[in-house]
Amino acid sequence: AVTRREDYRPPDWQVPEIALDLDLDPASTRVNATLNVVRTSAHDRPLVLDGAGQTPLSVKVDGVAINDWRIEEDALVIPLSGSAHVIETEVEIAPDRNTQLMGLYASGGNLCTQCEAEGFRRITFFPDRPDVLTRYKVRMAADKARFPVLLANGDPVGAGDLGDGRHWAEWHDPYPKPCYLFAMVAGDLVANRATFITRSGRQVALGIWVRPADLPKTAHAIEALKTSMKWDEDVYGREYDLDVFNIVAVDDFNFGAMENKGLNIFNSRYILADAETATDYDFDAIAAVVAHEYFHNWSGNRVTCRDWFQLSLKEGFTVFRDQSFSADQGSAAVKRIEDVRGLRAAQFPEDSGPLAHAIRPDAYLEISNFYTATIYNKGAEVIRMMATMLGPKQFRAATDLYFDRFDGTAATCEDFVACMEEGGGIDLTQFRLWYSQAGTPRVSASLTHEPGSGRAVLKLAQRMPPTPGQPDKKPMVLPLKLKLFGAETAQPIGSEQLILLSDAEEQISFETVTERPVLSINRGFSAPVIVETDRSAADLAFLSAHDDDPFARYEAMQQLMLDTLVEGAKHGQADHAAVIAAVANTLQDPHLDSAFIAEAVLLPSDSFIGDQMALVDPEAIFRAREALRRDLGRALEAQWRAAYDGARAAKFEYSPSAKGQRRLKTVALGYIAASGAVDAASLAFGQFEAADNMTDRQGALTTLVSGNAPERIAALDIFYNRYSDNALVLDKWFSTQALSARDDTLAMVTELARHRDFTLANPNRARALVGAFSVNQRAFNQASGEGYRFVADQLIALDKLNPQTAAKLIPPLGRWRRFDEARAAMMRAELERIVATPGLSKDMFEQASRSLAG
Ligand code: ARG
Ligand code: ZN
Repeated sequence: AVTRREDYRPPDWQVPEIALDLDLDPASTRVNATLNVVRTSAHDRPLVLDGAGQTPLSVKVDGVAINDWRIEEDALVIPLSGSAHVIETEVEIAPDRNTQLMGLYASGGNLCTQCEAEGFRRITFFPDRPDVLTRYKVRMAADKARFPVLLANGDPVGAGDLGDGRHWAEWHDPYPKPCYLFAMVAGDLVANRATFITRSGRQVALGIWVRPADLPKTAHAIEALKTSMKWDEDVYGREYDLDVFNIVAVDDFNFGAMENKGLNIFNSRYILADAETATDYDFDAIAAVVAHEYFHNWSGNRVTCRDWFQLSLKEGFTVFRDQSFSADQGSAAVKRIEDVRGLRAAQFPEDSGPLAHAIRPDAYLEISNFYTATIYNKGAEVIRMMATMLGPKQFRAATDLYFDRFDGTAATCEDFVACMEEGGGIDLTQFRLWYSQAGTPRVSASLTHEPGSGRAVLKLAQRMPPTPGQPDKKPMVLPLKLKLFGAETAQPIGSEQLILLSDAEEQISFETVTERPVLSINRGFSAPVIVETDRSAADLAFLSAHDDDPFARYEAMQQLMLDTLVEGAKHGQADHAAVIAAVANTLQDPHLDSAFIAEAVLLPSDSFIGDQMALVDPEAIFRAREALRRDLGRALEAQWRAAYDGARAAKFEYSPSAKGQRRLKTVALGYIAASGAVDAASLAFGQFEAADNMTDRQGALTTLVSGNAPERIAALDIFYNRYSDNALVLDKWFSTQALSARDDTLAMVTELARHRDFTLANPNRARALVGAFSVNQRAFNQASGEGYRFVADQLIALDKLNPQTAAKLIPPLGRWRRFDEARAAMMRAELERIVATPGLSKDMFEQASRSLAG
């Protein structure tokens, strides 16, 4: 049944208190729940407790067993006469058969939970909705040898032996919370412990819990946690509020991590790191996710969501907070470039495809399908635009107001925007359209100049393409940062302006412009839009050399590259001279750091090039990109070798400058290989063998894996044997091959799907092979359609184990409208085959059927 935002009604019953008693065993766990329930208004409706699958063993009301309960659509319905009662239920569940990884499940011999969004109902009967806030007391009993550590939310209040080889522990969480924030863990775990003292003097005992062998890999996460706690005090005035903060890392996890109150549970890939096994990208992602989950303690837990349509209230805001945190730890410009690249790779395709939805959607069949780049990353851009319009002081005043006013409540996106208006003193009436309209706005900008009068005129127009269910859209408020530069002097003409484009068309005039102006627009990516300008290749090259906003410099270079690549894809050839000159100039600019240079000289991805074209021609795009790579490699071979040698000797260190060097080194290696240089494979293999860190080793492997040299097989074997006992590194072994640019990638991937280390039961492994392959534009979309069939086969099999993770991998098949009719027909046929599969989950049904219809 579809759930609609407009149908929201406050709960009929609240549950101020719960006592949970879990008798833990992987094969059979007994859950006793005691709920204090209170009728919220003068209605006569029964108590309805959500459930999923399980049957109650007993139901008591006010201490007396009853029989007049019933199960309706998996929910337990209990008729009640009074306005307050005590309900006791007992159920049995089997964590070791829980392959969906929602509710209580087993991972690596330990037991853990994942309840967001609707997993708690798989543990016990309860009103599983975020506007029911409850105080939890949790008692766990388990075998002491197998599960020596028992953790839950809040503070530990007691523990002891039960005599029969079992033991118990009890935890109380003083903060009322929705059940999606419930968590418990039972396992054989050890902790990296540390202390954080909050600014008002509270001593917080921090623990990061892992298997004993993984303990040495937790240092980076602990540091990131302490840095995040301090940052939230300094930047948002938010302090931690319990005496204990625990994180547990597990190998089997549907998502990145979960912000359960006082007991975060993480996918181990976002905790475990050392130089030998984790790349710089992994280190950065760990810090970002640790920060993200920690920041949820305020933006998510202290202030939670009224209903799941408000998901972006906590996720968009928290992503914005973690992005700002990461920007403060290193190069803010490079962080912004990475975030925009991610937005374009993951969110723009959502906006332009059949699954397009607003950051506050109107309806869903399965809420798990709405944990999307739109809700998270576009949601973050919407918060960022408000922060830009308000300015730092007013934005802080507005967030203070928000936290203050809604602390302890379940709030809405509208509540947040109202605080922005009140705290910031601005009117956001029209801006609210960002919450309801899906799609990426397109802005066209054209600058003209009359040398005689010294007047320049900028014509701006915006349009919003239609999306499924939203044929006509209204103009949005677009905060655009812009600046002009003189083409002769390369000096700024006036200072940066923030303009708010709110009409379909507007004009802005500049006076006393004495030399030809060049337009720099959407600086810092101030609005998440697509800008179309008539700037020439020469002007883009000029900006890539002279703009004083690093993001705008990067953007000018990207646009220049894109124009060249699209030309090449359409006509089979293009003039590469302007790109080569601009890249040469960037490589030799002494004011730029390595990390920025590495970003700036990297060509846009195949799929981003495809997004610029009316119809995606994967082979033509691949050839155009390879041709430009080869020409850049050849023309600038000496510079690539100089950049490579300049970065080569450095010993491993995790610092912004060392990271930048490693990044540039691998980018340079890629261009040396693209040039066809005879020593490229031995250079790569040398780097592979000599590396003292995973960034260099995987960078070299990536280069080899797309080529034909004999070193490719050798490196893959060495890599596999060296890391065969490390699941996270084996994931890299799978994904690096799935992303290969070789012609036989599908054959390799099909073979890998039969490898003894491949399993669909582990989400990281499934994503490493199937997920990575399906974003390899050329391999996935090969003309035979076999790529589509392979992915559909895998997803049908995965759906039987884990619908949530399977459904997340549908979108590449849903892009059929963007391809020629032959490919489109084959993609639709696979989607139809999925929809027709007996016993299909509603997760998959929703994604696949919307992909067909949209
Ligand atoms: N709230 C978590 C986070 O963003 C993610 C939970 C994902 N849950 C889900 N059902 N997909 O940090
Ligand atoms: Zn989150």
